[in-house]
Amino acid sequence: RPTLPEKIDYVFKVVVIGDSAVGKTQLLSRFTQNEFCYDSKSTIGVEFQTRTITLQGKLVKAQIWDTAGQERAVTSAYYRGALGAMVVYDITKRVSFDHVARWVEDLRAHADDSAVIMLVGNKADLAADKRAVTTEDAVEFAETHRLFFSEVSALSGGNVDAAFFRLLEEIF
Ligand code: GTP
Repeated sequence: RPTLPEKIDYVFKVVVIGDSAVGKTQLLSRFTQNEFCYDSKSTIGVEFQTRTITLQGKLVKAQIWDTAGQERAVTSAYYRGALGAMVVYDITKRVSFDHVARWVEDLRAHADDSAVIMLVGNKADLAADKRAVTTEDAVEFAETHRLFFSEVSALSGGNVDAAFFRLLEEIF
């Protein structure tokens, strides 16, 4: 059966930032296609993927932007018009959490003041034996910087939808 054309009520631009290899691209493909790719290549340049969801009876197209973590000099064009942002770190890589403050700084410098920001600790599936950042440390950081916070796993899919929905509802 052909899908009916959608009448989109809103388009929300969300940017995903964070160090290289924290799992930004996999988070996007989990949320937009419910897929995970084990041998994903490092992102080159900027890409976006979309998923349309219903919020309070309205069709919202989430346009989620992904860029390479290596290019910290993300241009202001990347942040322009972003209503939300996910700052991602890897719960097994302390340094990726230590860099979160810088990513938030970039964001506050370039994105709109009203942009909703969520701190996301990815790779929660490895928490049992490889955790390098405690949940408490992350919660404290999130509270200090007034960010939403969630631990997720792009691999298992755990909490991924919930985190994106939380962010999109907050924008809405
Ligand atoms: P750049 O494009 O270089 O900025 O990296 P990225 O942040 O987009 O990371 P990417 O999504 O390419 O994932 C990096 C590596 O981490 C890949 O080998 C993924 O398979 C792995 N990975 C991503 N998410 C998870 C996860 O939730 N759990 C586990 N165990 N591995 C993950």
